[in-house]
Amino acid sequence: MLSKLKEFFARVFKSRKPLLEYNGDLTSPNGRIVCRLTLKKGQVYYSVLRDGKNLVRDSRLGMNLRGDEPLYNGLMLVRSLNKSFDETWETKWGEAHYIQNKYNETVLYLSETGGKRRLFTLRFRAFDDGVAFRYEIPPQPEFQNLVVADELTEFNVDFNGYAWHIPAFQPDRYEYNYERSPVYELQHSVHTPLTIETPVGYAISIHEAALYNYGSMTLKLNQNNALMADITPLSDGAKAYVELPFNTPWRVIMIGDSPLDLTTNHMILNLNDPPKEDFDWVKPLKFMGIWWAMYVGEYTWAEGERHGATTKHTEEYIDACERLGIPGLLVEGWNNGWNGDWLQNGPTNDFIHPSKDFDLKEVAKYASSKGIELVGHHETVGYIDNYEKQIEEAYKEYADNGIHYVKPGYAGAWMSIQGRREFHHSQAGVLHYQRALELAAKYHIMLDVHEPIKGTGIERTWPNLLTREGARGQEYEGGALYPSHATILPFTRLLSGGMDYTSGIFDVTNNVKRMATTIAKQLAYYVTIFSGMQMAADRPRFYEEVNPAAFKFIQDVPVSWERTLPLLGHIGQYYVVARQERGTENWFIGGVTNEDEHRVRVNLDFLPQGSVYQAEIYRDGENAHYRENQLAIAIETRKVGKMDYLDILMAPGGGFAVALKKIQ
Ligand code: NOJ
Ligand code: CA
Repeated sequence: MLSKLKEFFARVFKSRKPLLEYNGDLTSPNGRIVCRLTLKKGQVYYSVLRDGKNLVRDSRLGMNLRGDEPLYNGLMLVRSLNKSFDETWETKWGEAHYIQNKYNETVLYLSETGGKRRLFTLRFRAFDDGVAFRYEIPPQPEFQNLVVADELTEFNVDFNGYAWHIPAFQPDRYEYNYERSPVYELQHSVHTPLTIETPVGYAISIHEAALYNYGSMTLKLNQNNALMADITPLSDGAKAYVELPFNTPWRVIMIGDSPLDLTTNHMILNLNDPPKEDFDWVKPLKFMGIWWAMYVGEYTWAEGERHGATTKHTEEYIDACERLGIPGLLVEGWNNGWNGDWLQNGPTNDFIHPSKDFDLKEVAKYASSKGIELVGHHETVGYIDNYEKQIEEAYKEYADNGIHYVKPGYAGAWMSIQGRREFHHSQAGVLHYQRALELAAKYHIMLDVHEPIKGTGIERTWPNLLTREGARGQEYEGGALYPSHATILPFTRLLSGGMDYTSGIFDVTNNVKRMATTIAKQLAYYVTIFSGMQMAADRPRFYEEVNPAAFKFIQDVPVSWERTLPLLGHIGQYYVVARQERGTENWFIGGVTNEDEHRVRVNLDFLPQGSVYQAEIYRDGENAHYRENQLAIAIETRKVGKMDYLDILMAPGGGFAVALKKIQ
């Protein structure tokens, strides 16, 4: 192996005349984006322009290594290659049925001029809606593995831009409220996607794709006031231990003419590989849950008088799913480990044995006799050592009982891995989430991961990863969620993939977890927040008895889409989107606003010429308000066509949902 490598490198150097200086422009297929690549004084830089305007100025690339020389200076260019690619691929499920993956690529093969003459490659892609690049390091005679001390990648954006950010390295992982501030005010590391409204009018979002075997990227300002990668460290401070060959995740700069334009950017999925198996068993799901009853204190996760996950309650919920036409049911608190303080029980939580009052086999049999899919639940509290001892048997037990969906949770401030405290988002965490996902695939299990690693598009390769939480969801209602939150997510968190927001709470006025929304806004979420698994999160009686007319929308709305058309939006203020149901000609529209009332005119010109649709409109009723009058909802039906528009007033903290069913 080694002698072969040596021969290879000798050949490369003999046949090429390395360049000490280089300037090259990589242009997007439509010519609007230029990624300018420069090698000067032994270092490589890139910059990005859109329509001739500078979005990212000269930004340094490279990494510091532990126990080895840094890999960023004293470089020469051995060879460069260009190629173009254009392919349209079919998704298994998602926001669009078909996605075009079209880009131009430049690959720079670099070598150090002295020392060990180590080699590495930089692969750049320019899409019509952004730029991506990654480091690729081949194995070399004197370079077989490495320890990344720091990745030096810069994203030197104009620091006058306004960034929407949540803090990194905090105990509640990604579950924070977004703040908006000029880039130059970013004091601490922030998570990606980091969406920035640039001073020249475009919107960009910096993120990563295909995160495997590496710490996840956060961003911080460096001494030059440039944003720079700040890779989540392991407990010993290293950012990643890797063996060569190794490719870093893609570093991605999504670019839109406006924030709304970003919301259909598919670069993150496109930068991932197609699946290696057929995954035909994967199916998106709508589900209810023995869940919200615990949040409002009606049930408990722990055993006892008010235990939620009993055989009896589960069978009642299964009956309700059948009556209401909701094909799935999540059951939390079914296993041993919830009694007492469950957050403290993490090290000993039992994922295999049910509590005395829960008969897994019987419940599974009952669900299957009614055609209802059970969604199993594993709350690890981040104790990975304990979980990994049981995970395969636990998945197998579920699979043997015909349970194909699992919601894992990692609700701890840390992960405990090999006895060490690690960040969820460190290389150790990333490796665990990946092991769990691949094992789930082996047992044909689909996942809804709570407290997950952020989305980096790997669901293209692993479509059984149907959704994640990974931001503040409705469990934070009752004081910690603002009406604006749902108008920020589509432009930030949701650029990384779908989210389980646990929508559809109709008991909005409850005293324990009072929602900061109107009831119409709860319906809007099914369209504004994409998720491969959508929860109808309230208790069945609120759907059957309290508001069956509004519940009809949750029954009708699909989980997977043919096409997505963002219509109107302003980060933090309002957002309106239309989506076509996959495989039909029906359309659904959702709109949400912040604490201010907002009136929108929704043109229906996306409907096909000559067709007639029945519009079922669910909007805030008269004087609706997220604090004073949450329940006021108006439901109306009328015939519409391509030339029509809807004039809708969203109440403070409100929203609307529309089902457009083709009748002719
Ligand atoms: C946090 C999850 O986000 C929530 O949905 C779940 O109910 C709790 N952990 C308990 O597992
Ligand atoms: Ca959570």
